[in-house]
Amino acid sequence: MEDIVGLCKRRGFIFQSSEIYGGYNGFYDYGPLGVELRNNIKQAWWRDMVQCRDDIEGLDSTIIMHPKIWKASGHVDGFSDPMVDCKESKLRYRADQLFFAPVIVDGETIGYVSVIESPEQQEIAEKAAAELKRKAAKQGELAPIVLKDYTESQPEEYALIPSPATGKPGSLTAPREFKLMFETKVGPLADDSAVAYLRPETAQGIFANYKNVVDTGRVKIPFGIAQIGKAFRNEITPRNFIFRSREFEQMEIEYFISPNADWKSLHREWIDTCIDWLVSIGLPRDGITEDIHPEDKLAFYSQATTDLMFQFPHGEQELWGIACRGDYDLKQHQEHSGKSMEIFDEASKSKFIPHVIEPSLGVDRTLLAVLTAAYTEDEVPNDKGQVEKRLVMKFSPRIAPVKAAIFPLLKNKPELVERAQALYKKLQRRWNVFYDASGAIGRRYRRQDEIGTPFGITIDFDTIEKDGTVTLRDRDTCEQRRVTEEELIQYLSEQIDG
Ligand code: GAP
Repeated sequence: MEDIVGLCKRRGFIFQSSEIYGGYNGFYDYGPLGVELRNNIKQAWWRDMVQCRDDIEGLDSTIIMHPKIWKASGHVDGFSDPMVDCKESKLRYRADQLFFAPVIVDGETIGYVSVIESPEQQEIAEKAAAELKRKAAKQGELAPIVLKDYTESQPEEYALIPSPATGKPGSLTAPREFKLMFETKVGPLADDSAVAYLRPETAQGIFANYKNVVDTGRVKIPFGIAQIGKAFRNEITPRNFIFRSREFEQMEIEYFISPNADWKSLHREWIDTCIDWLVSIGLPRDGITEDIHPEDKLAFYSQATTDLMFQFPHGEQELWGIACRGDYDLKQHQEHSGKSMEIFDEASKSKFIPHVIEPSLGVDRTLLAVLTAAYTEDEVPNDKGQVEKRLVMKFSPRIAPVKAAIFPLLKNKPELVERAQALYKKLQRRWNVFYDASGAIGRRYRRQDEIGTPFGITIDFDTIEKDGTVTLRDRDTCEQRRVTEEELIQYLSEQIDG
């Protein structure tokens, strides 16, 4: 993760928000290359999920909506995480990310250990338990360390569990619910009637507009409504770079189906569509797994949820949630708004409130997955034929921030520069391309490798004196071949636009 964060800062992908004031926890800014990568991911999703499908319509709803929407959806009363405070260090933890265990020697509990959630949590807890036993000078057999999360702790244990910050028992509070929605006030009155919320998900904007889309479009069941937009959550512990932040973006679809449809097959179809899409933007298939939520852990209205998990640098974590939410949301809005959410289905000549399948993906999490998959350190020969280490971001050409770099072999030869500039201007009309005339050609290639530019195009003396061909270099193989301008544009078009 440190390497990725370092590269992102160094090359202008992602910066800590408000950095000149020391940063602002849980907020990130996207720099010149980051914004390109981010836009390309969103465009690819929109193209594949909305424009290239006949059964999905797009939407862009407001971030601040009538507060009754959040009452109806259940967010006002239920959208919270369990938190726990350390009274001594003043640090705050998510209770379900703080783990503890009793340390038992020959059947006697000699103390407790606690750890923050991580791939190494078991190992860290076992080491801490062995240390506790050593300090207590206890002989005998240490029982296996069985970690539970802090939401499962009992009141009599609060005084015994140490804070991960200080290592001392007794400073953690009992777990309590912490509301995740950001509040604001709308209008000139600053009283409670003015309270509104920054949306914590884009989904409710879709449900709130479902009737509008049904009444104005020509949709028929099954159909979906898609939206890309900002969401805000006052996360207790934003962490792991852009993986969990307080301001982020979502790409969500509500796919409306008949209550009599075979929802299990449709759910499976959506899971496969989502996996295929992730692979199409360059994620390795074997890095994606499915986490099926156990039935007894589902929300009462949910029929099934499968999360697509990805191997992030900090461990395997949720990337895309695909949930079958029944008719819960539309029924709630029908009840709270008094407006009918029924649709007339021509095929079955019946009226019903549709059920919904919801694939919900974070833009920023996708971007982190893309950065993780692309980050490669390999060895390639330099200009002198010596093998050199290089850092290369192997972005798929479709989402790479810069598609091609154009280099005149020498910057002090006007005829080379003129020809390279002309090609640059031509390619710029279609794609985000880069012109670089400074430094040795090998160094110029390396700079582009580091930001993941898939193609390097060099204009040399053969271009101007012989056949007009240019050298096309492939970022991943470093192979170079000569192509005509026509072949070049055709090839770039196939690789970038598909
Ligand atoms: N409408 C359903 C919904 O919002 P969710 O599992 O809370 O479900 C969906 O969020 C997706 O949004 C997640 O799988 C993740 O990709 C992204 N996401 C959620 N919280 C996030 C956060 N704090 N920072 C970045 N991405 C987040």
